Amino acid sequence: MNFPKKLEQKLIQRATSNTLRSLKSDTNRIDFYSNDYLGLAQSESVFDQTHQLLLDKNIKINGATGSRLISGNHQLYQEAENYIAQFHNSPKALLFNSGYDANVGFFSCVPQRGDVILYDEYIHASIRDGIQLSNTKNYKFKHNDLDHLEKQLVSVRAQSRTKDSEIYIVTESVFSMDGDTPNLNGLITVTKQHNAYLVVDEAHALGVFGEKGEGLVQQLQLENEVFARIITYGKALGCHGATILSNEKLYSYLINFSRSFIYTTGLSPHALATIQVAYLHLNSEIIQQLEDNINFFKSEVRRLQLNHSFIESNSAIHCSVISGIEKTKAIALKLQENGFNIKPILSPTVPEGQERLRFCLHSFNSKKHITTILEQLAHLI
Ligand SMILES: Cc1ncc(COP(=O)(O)O)c(C=O)c1O
Repeated sequence: MNFPKKLEQKLIQRATSNTLRSLKSDTNRIDFYSNDYLGLAQSESVFDQTHQLLLDKNIKINGATGSRLISGNHQLYQEAENYIAQFHNSPKALLFNSGYDANVGFFSCVPQRGDVILYDEYIHASIRDGIQLSNTKNYKFKHNDLDHLEKQLVSVRAQSRTKDSEIYIVTESVFSMDGDTPNLNGLITVTKQHNAYLVVDEAHALGVFGEKGEGLVQQLQLENEVFARIITYGKALGCHGATILSNEKLYSYLINFSRSFIYTTGLSPHALATIQVAYLHLNSEIIQQLEDNINFFKSEVRRLQLNHSFIESNSAIHCSVISGIEKTKAIALKLQENGFNIKPILSPTVPEGQERLRFCLHSFNSKKHITTILEQLAHLI
Protein backbone atom coordinates (compact mmCIF):
# COMPACT_ATOMS: atom_id res chain seq x y z
CA MET A 1 0.00 0.00 0.00
CA ASN A 2 1.32 3.46 -0.92
CA PHE A 3 1.83 6.04 1.78
CA PRO A 4 1.36 9.77 1.03
CA LYS A 5 4.75 11.36 0.35
CA LYS A 6 4.12 14.50 2.39
CA LEU A 7 3.33 12.43 5.46
CA GLU A 8 6.43 10.32 4.90
CA GLN A 9 8.49 13.52 4.76
CA LYS A 10 7.06 14.79 8.02
CA LEU A 11 7.87 11.53 9.77
CA ILE A 12 11.41 11.63 8.40
CA GLN A 13 11.80 15.23 9.61
CA ARG A 14 10.76 14.21 13.13
CA ALA A 15 13.12 11.26 13.11
CA THR A 16 16.01 13.41 11.86
CA SER A 17 15.49 15.99 14.60
CA ASN A 18 15.23 13.20 17.19
CA THR A 19 11.69 14.23 18.12
CA LEU A 20 9.71 11.32 16.68
CA ARG A 21 7.03 10.33 19.16
CA SER A 22 6.05 6.74 19.89
CA LEU A 23 3.88 5.03 22.47
CA LYS A 24 5.58 3.22 25.34
CA SER A 25 4.34 1.39 28.40
CA ASP A 26 6.50 2.52 31.24
CA THR A 27 7.89 0.20 33.82
CA ASN A 28 7.25 0.51 37.49
CA ARG A 29 9.48 3.48 38.21
CA ILE A 30 8.93 6.21 40.79
CA ASP A 31 6.29 8.58 39.48
CA PHE A 32 7.46 12.11 38.73
CA TYR A 33 5.61 12.31 35.43
CA SER A 34 1.91 11.60 35.75
CA ASN A 35 -0.89 14.11 36.35
CA ASP A 36 -2.21 11.87 39.14
CA TYR A 37 -1.24 14.52 41.69
CA LEU A 38 -3.26 13.01 44.55
CA GLY A 39 -2.88 9.33 43.71
CA LEU A 40 -6.60 8.98 43.04
CA ALA A 41 -6.07 7.13 39.74
CA GLN A 42 -4.58 4.29 41.78
CA SER A 43 -6.92 4.61 44.75
CA GLU A 44 -8.57 1.30 45.68
CA SER A 45 -11.04 3.28 47.72
CA VAL A 46 -12.21 5.25 44.66
CA PHE A 47 -12.42 2.01 42.68
CA ASP A 48 -14.40 0.13 45.35
CA GLN A 49 -16.74 3.00 46.21
CA THR A 50 -17.54 3.57 42.54
CA HIS A 51 -18.47 -0.08 42.18
CA GLN A 52 -20.57 0.13 45.35
CA LEU A 53 -22.35 3.30 44.21
CA LEU A 54 -23.38 1.59 40.98
CA LEU A 55 -24.54 -1.51 42.87
CA ASP A 56 -26.48 0.55 45.42
CA LYS A 57 -28.31 2.34 42.62
CA ASN A 58 -28.76 -0.90 40.73
CA ILE A 59 -27.06 0.58 37.66
CA LYS A 60 -25.82 -2.27 35.51
CA ILE A 61 -25.17 -0.43 32.25
CA ASN A 62 -21.87 -0.34 30.40
CA GLY A 63 -22.31 2.54 27.99
CA ALA A 64 -24.24 5.78 27.49
CA THR A 65 -25.92 4.44 24.31
CA GLY A 66 -25.99 7.81 22.55
CA SER A 67 -25.49 11.54 22.65
CA ARG A 68 -26.75 13.22 25.80
CA LEU A 69 -29.35 14.93 23.65
CA ILE A 70 -30.75 11.59 22.53
CA SER A 71 -30.44 8.49 24.74
CA GLY A 72 -27.21 9.19 26.65
CA ASN A 73 -28.32 11.52 29.45
CA HIS A 74 -28.17 9.01 32.27
CA GLN A 75 -29.63 10.01 35.67
CA LEU A 76 -26.10 10.11 37.08
CA TYR A 77 -25.34 13.12 34.87
CA GLN A 78 -27.75 15.31 36.75
CA GLU A 79 -26.56 14.09 40.14
CA ALA A 80 -22.93 14.64 39.19
CA GLU A 81 -23.53 18.07 37.64
CA ASN A 82 -25.52 19.27 40.66
CA TYR A 83 -22.76 18.13 42.97
CA ILE A 84 -20.03 19.69 40.82
CA ALA A 85 -21.84 23.04 40.54
CA GLN A 86 -22.29 23.18 44.30
CA PHE A 87 -18.69 22.14 45.00
CA HIS A 88 -17.38 24.87 42.71
CA ASN A 89 -19.86 27.52 43.81
CA SER A 90 -21.15 27.89 40.26
CA PRO A 91 -24.76 28.30 39.05
CA LYS A 92 -24.27 25.52 36.51
CA ALA A 93 -21.90 22.70 35.56
CA LEU A 94 -21.91 20.96 32.18
CA LEU A 95 -19.98 17.71 31.77
CA PHE A 96 -17.99 16.99 28.61
CA ASN A 97 -16.20 13.79 27.65
CA SER A 98 -12.75 15.31 28.13
CA GLY A 99 -10.94 18.57 28.66
CA TYR A 100 -10.01 18.51 24.99
CA ASP A 101 -13.69 18.26 24.04
CA ALA A 102 -14.66 20.98 26.51
CA ASN A 103 -12.13 23.47 25.17
CA VAL A 104 -12.77 22.71 21.51
CA GLY A 105 -16.51 22.81 22.18
CA PHE A 106 -16.36 26.11 24.02
CA PHE A 107 -14.04 28.12 21.82
CA SER A 108 -15.50 26.90 18.55
CA CYS A 109 -19.01 28.07 19.42
CA VAL A 110 -19.00 30.83 22.04
CA PRO A 111 -16.97 33.64 20.43
CA GLN A 112 -18.87 34.71 17.30
CA ARG A 113 -17.76 35.97 13.88
CA GLY A 114 -16.07 39.34 14.36
CA ASP A 115 -15.44 38.77 18.07
CA VAL A 116 -11.89 38.80 19.38
CA ILE A 117 -10.01 36.24 21.44
CA LEU A 118 -6.84 37.28 23.25
CA TYR A 119 -4.98 34.26 24.56
CA ASP A 120 -1.80 33.70 26.53
CA GLU A 121 0.90 32.51 24.14
CA TYR A 122 1.41 29.32 26.20
CA ILE A 123 -2.23 28.29 26.13
CA HIS A 124 -3.04 24.58 25.79
CA ALA A 125 -3.37 22.98 22.35
CA SER A 126 -7.03 22.11 22.97
CA ILE A 127 -7.85 25.82 23.35
CA ARG A 128 -5.86 26.67 20.23
CA ASP A 129 -7.75 24.02 18.29
CA GLY A 130 -11.06 25.43 19.49
CA ILE A 131 -9.97 28.94 18.51
CA GLN A 132 -8.99 27.70 15.05
CA LEU A 133 -12.49 26.39 14.55
CA SER A 134 -14.00 29.74 15.51
CA ASN A 135 -14.70 32.64 13.15
CA THR A 136 -12.91 35.13 15.35
CA LYS A 137 -9.95 37.41 15.12
CA ASN A 138 -7.49 36.07 17.62
CA TYR A 139 -4.20 37.33 18.95
CA LYS A 140 -1.80 36.00 21.53
CA PHE A 141 -0.36 38.06 24.34
CA LYS A 142 3.02 37.44 25.95
CA HIS A 143 2.99 34.81 28.64
CA ASN A 144 1.52 36.17 31.90
CA ASP A 145 2.21 39.70 30.68
CA LEU A 146 -0.60 42.03 31.74
CA ASP A 147 1.00 45.08 30.13
CA HIS A 148 1.15 43.35 26.77
CA LEU A 149 -2.45 42.20 27.15
CA GLU A 150 -3.54 45.77 27.88
CA LYS A 151 -1.73 47.02 24.79
CA GLN A 152 -3.49 44.38 22.71
CA LEU A 153 -6.85 45.36 24.22
CA VAL A 154 -6.33 49.03 23.49
CA SER A 155 -5.33 48.28 19.91
CA VAL A 156 -8.25 45.90 19.39
CA ARG A 157 -10.77 48.41 20.77
CA ALA A 158 -9.26 51.17 18.59
CA GLN A 159 -10.09 49.25 15.43
CA SER A 160 -13.42 50.54 14.23
CA ARG A 161 -14.50 47.12 13.01
CA THR A 162 -14.25 45.67 16.49
CA LYS A 163 -16.04 48.44 18.39
CA ASP A 164 -19.15 46.29 18.87
CA SER A 165 -17.32 43.01 19.14
CA GLU A 166 -17.11 40.96 22.27
CA ILE A 167 -13.62 40.28 23.57
CA TYR A 168 -12.68 37.02 25.26
CA ILE A 169 -9.48 36.71 27.28
CA VAL A 170 -8.16 33.20 27.88
CA THR A 171 -5.65 31.88 30.37
CA GLU A 172 -4.85 28.81 32.46
CA SER A 173 -4.66 28.96 36.23
CA VAL A 174 -1.70 26.55 36.03
CA PHE A 175 0.18 26.35 32.73
CA SER A 176 0.61 22.73 31.81
CA MET A 177 4.17 22.88 30.47
CA ASP A 178 5.48 25.55 32.89
CA GLY A 179 3.56 25.04 36.13
CA ASP A 180 3.29 28.78 36.74
CA THR A 181 0.13 30.82 37.36
CA PRO A 182 -1.10 34.16 36.05
CA ASN A 183 -2.03 37.15 38.17
CA LEU A 184 -5.75 36.38 38.16
CA ASN A 185 -6.73 39.47 40.15
CA GLY A 186 -4.84 41.64 37.67
CA LEU A 187 -6.45 39.85 34.74
CA ILE A 188 -9.89 40.46 36.19
CA THR A 189 -9.22 44.16 36.63
CA VAL A 190 -8.09 44.44 33.00
CA THR A 191 -11.01 42.30 31.82
CA LYS A 192 -13.48 44.60 33.56
CA GLN A 193 -11.81 47.78 32.37
CA HIS A 194 -12.20 46.65 28.78
CA ASN A 195 -15.61 45.11 29.17
CA ALA A 196 -14.30 41.70 28.15
CA TYR A 197 -14.97 38.11 29.29
CA LEU A 198 -12.37 36.05 31.12
CA VAL A 199 -12.18 32.28 30.61
CA VAL A 200 -9.88 30.20 32.83
CA ASP A 201 -8.74 26.63 32.20
CA GLU A 202 -8.25 25.09 35.64
CA ALA A 203 -7.15 21.63 34.46
CA HIS A 204 -4.01 21.57 36.62
CA ALA A 205 -5.42 23.61 39.51
CA LEU A 206 -8.25 21.27 40.52
CA GLY A 207 -7.10 19.20 43.51
CA VAL A 208 -4.09 21.47 43.97
CA PHE A 209 -5.30 24.95 45.00
CA GLY A 210 -8.02 25.71 47.53
CA GLU A 211 -8.71 24.07 50.87
CA LYS A 212 -10.46 21.14 49.23
CA GLY A 213 -8.72 21.53 45.89
CA GLU A 214 -11.50 23.63 44.36
CA GLY A 215 -9.03 25.41 42.04
CA LEU A 216 -7.27 28.75 41.98
CA VAL A 217 -10.26 30.86 40.96
CA GLN A 218 -12.17 29.69 44.00
CA GLN A 219 -9.19 29.92 46.31
CA LEU A 220 -9.02 33.60 45.38
CA GLN A 221 -12.83 33.91 45.65
CA LEU A 222 -13.13 35.07 42.05
CA GLU A 223 -15.87 32.70 40.91
CA ASN A 224 -18.26 35.53 40.14
CA GLU A 225 -15.72 37.48 38.11
CA VAL A 226 -14.95 34.74 35.57
CA PHE A 227 -17.21 34.04 32.58
CA ALA A 228 -16.38 30.33 32.44
CA ARG A 229 -14.05 27.85 34.12
CA ILE A 230 -12.88 24.60 32.52
CA ILE A 231 -12.21 21.82 35.01
CA THR A 232 -10.81 18.46 33.92
CA TYR A 233 -10.82 15.09 35.63
CA GLY A 234 -7.88 13.34 34.00
CA LYS A 235 -5.38 15.13 36.26
CA ALA A 236 -5.75 15.33 40.06
CA LEU A 237 -9.09 13.51 40.09
CA GLY A 238 -7.44 10.53 38.44
CA CYS A 239 -10.33 9.64 36.13
CA HIS A 240 -11.76 11.12 32.93
CA GLY A 241 -14.06 13.86 31.69
CA ALA A 242 -14.35 17.61 32.17
CA THR A 243 -16.78 20.30 33.20
CA ILE A 244 -17.50 23.82 32.04
CA LEU A 245 -18.65 25.92 35.00
CA SER A 246 -20.88 28.78 33.91
CA ASN A 247 -24.10 30.65 34.44
CA GLU A 248 -27.51 29.32 33.34
CA LYS A 249 -27.53 31.02 29.94
CA LEU A 250 -24.09 29.83 28.91
CA TYR A 251 -25.02 26.32 30.06
CA SER A 252 -28.07 26.37 27.82
CA TYR A 253 -26.09 27.89 24.92
CA LEU A 254 -23.45 25.14 25.12
CA ILE A 255 -26.06 22.38 25.11
CA ASN A 256 -27.53 23.92 21.97
CA PHE A 257 -24.43 24.91 20.03
CA SER A 258 -21.32 23.13 21.25
CA ARG A 259 -20.62 20.49 18.64
CA SER A 260 -18.21 18.41 20.73
CA PHE A 261 -21.00 18.17 23.30
CA ILE A 262 -23.80 17.38 20.86
CA TYR A 263 -22.24 15.05 18.32
CA THR A 264 -20.66 12.44 20.56
CA THR A 265 -21.68 9.57 22.79
CA GLY A 266 -22.00 10.56 26.46
CA LEU A 267 -19.85 9.26 29.29
CA SER A 268 -20.69 5.83 30.69
CA PRO A 269 -22.46 5.65 34.07
CA HIS A 270 -19.26 4.12 35.44
CA ALA A 271 -17.25 7.17 34.36
CA LEU A 272 -19.81 9.48 35.97
CA ALA A 273 -19.83 7.51 39.21
CA THR A 274 -16.02 7.62 39.29
CA ILE A 275 -16.06 11.42 38.96
CA GLN A 276 -18.56 11.71 41.80
CA VAL A 277 -16.59 9.40 44.09
CA ALA A 278 -13.27 11.05 43.22
CA TYR A 279 -14.72 14.42 44.29
CA LEU A 280 -15.60 12.89 47.65
CA HIS A 281 -11.93 12.03 48.10
CA LEU A 282 -10.86 15.66 47.86
CA ASN A 283 -10.14 16.66 51.45
CA SER A 284 -7.81 19.06 53.19
CA GLU A 285 -5.55 16.24 54.44
CA ILE A 286 -4.62 14.94 50.99
CA ILE A 287 -4.27 18.48 49.61
CA GLN A 288 -1.96 19.31 52.52
CA GLN A 289 0.23 16.27 51.75
CA LEU A 290 0.66 17.52 48.20
CA GLU A 291 1.38 21.06 49.39
CA ASP A 292 4.01 19.74 51.85
CA ASN A 293 5.74 17.92 49.01
CA ILE A 294 5.62 20.99 46.77
CA ASN A 295 7.18 23.09 49.54
CA PHE A 296 9.80 20.44 50.26
CA PHE A 297 10.66 20.14 46.56
CA LYS A 298 11.14 23.89 46.34
CA SER A 299 13.34 24.00 49.42
CA GLU A 300 15.49 21.20 48.01
CA VAL A 301 15.79 23.07 44.69
CA ARG A 302 17.10 26.08 46.64
CA ARG A 303 19.44 23.97 48.82
CA LEU A 304 20.97 22.41 45.71
CA GLN A 305 21.18 25.81 44.01
CA LEU A 306 19.07 24.61 41.12
CA ASN A 307 16.70 27.59 41.19
CA HIS A 308 18.26 29.27 38.15
CA SER A 309 17.05 26.42 35.94
CA PHE A 310 13.54 26.10 37.42
CA ILE A 311 10.49 28.11 36.36
CA GLU A 312 8.88 29.70 39.45
CA SER A 313 5.85 27.62 40.43
CA ASN A 314 3.58 26.91 43.39
CA SER A 315 1.69 24.18 41.59
CA ALA A 316 2.38 20.45 41.28
CA ILE A 317 4.31 21.04 38.02
CA HIS A 318 7.94 22.14 38.23
CA CYS A 319 10.10 22.54 35.16
CA SER A 320 13.85 22.61 34.88
CA VAL A 321 14.80 24.23 31.58
CA ILE A 322 17.80 22.39 30.17
CA SER A 323 17.79 23.67 26.55
CA GLY A 324 18.70 21.40 23.68
CA ILE A 325 16.89 18.26 22.60
CA GLU A 326 19.86 15.89 22.94
CA LYS A 327 20.90 17.16 26.35
CA THR A 328 17.39 17.15 27.80
CA LYS A 329 16.74 13.65 26.49
CA ALA A 330 20.07 12.38 27.84
CA ILE A 331 19.42 13.68 31.36
CA ALA A 332 15.89 12.27 31.34
CA LEU A 333 17.21 8.89 30.19
CA LYS A 334 19.78 8.81 32.99
CA LEU A 335 17.10 9.58 35.60
CA GLN A 336 14.87 6.91 34.07
CA GLU A 337 17.70 4.37 34.25
CA ASN A 338 18.05 5.31 37.91
CA GLY A 339 14.44 4.31 38.54
CA PHE A 340 12.47 7.54 38.07
CA ASN A 341 9.65 8.13 35.65
CA ILE A 342 10.31 11.60 34.33
CA LYS A 343 9.71 12.97 30.84
CA PRO A 344 11.65 15.42 28.73
CA ILE A 345 9.42 18.05 27.14
CA LEU A 346 10.84 18.94 23.75
CA SER A 347 10.18 21.41 20.97
CA PRO A 348 7.73 21.72 19.23
CA THR A 349 5.68 21.18 22.42
CA VAL A 350 7.73 24.02 23.97
CA PRO A 351 9.66 26.70 22.05
CA GLU A 352 13.02 25.68 20.62
CA GLY A 353 15.79 26.20 23.14
CA GLN A 354 13.42 25.80 26.09
CA GLU A 355 13.45 22.01 26.21
CA ARG A 356 12.92 20.94 29.78
CA LEU A 357 12.40 18.25 32.36
CA ARG A 358 8.89 18.40 33.77
CA PHE A 359 8.59 17.21 37.37
CA CYS A 360 5.04 16.36 38.40
CA LEU A 361 4.77 16.20 42.17
CA HIS A 362 2.29 14.04 44.05
CA SER A 363 0.88 13.70 47.55
CA PHE A 364 2.42 10.20 47.61
CA ASN A 365 6.01 11.07 46.62
CA SER A 366 8.39 10.45 49.51
CA LYS A 367 10.79 13.15 50.72
CA LYS A 368 13.64 10.70 50.14
CA HIS A 369 12.72 10.29 46.48
CA ILE A 370 12.39 14.05 46.02
CA THR A 371 15.85 14.60 47.47
CA THR A 372 17.38 11.77 45.44
CA ILE A 373 16.00 12.85 42.07
CA LEU A 374 17.05 16.47 42.64
CA GLU A 375 20.54 15.49 43.81
CA GLN A 376 20.91 13.40 40.67
CA LEU A 377 19.67 16.28 38.53
CA ALA A 378 22.18 18.65 40.17
CA HIS A 379 24.92 16.16 39.38
CA LEU A 380 23.79 15.68 35.78
CA ILE A 381 23.46 19.35 34.86
C1 LIG B 1 -4.48 23.02 30.43
C2 LIG B 1 -5.15 21.81 29.85
N1 LIG B 1 -6.39 21.93 29.38
C3 LIG B 1 -7.03 20.88 28.84
C4 LIG B 1 -6.44 19.64 28.74
C5 LIG B 1 -7.18 18.51 28.12
O1 LIG B 1 -7.78 17.74 29.10
P1 LIG B 1 -8.11 16.20 28.85
O2 LIG B 1 -6.85 15.45 29.09
O3 LIG B 1 -9.20 15.89 29.83
O4 LIG B 1 -8.58 16.07 27.45
C6 LIG B 1 -5.16 19.47 29.25
C7 LIG B 1 -4.51 18.14 29.16
O5 LIG B 1 -3.43 17.93 28.74
C8 LIG B 1 -4.48 20.58 29.81
O6 LIG B 1 -3.24 20.47 30.26
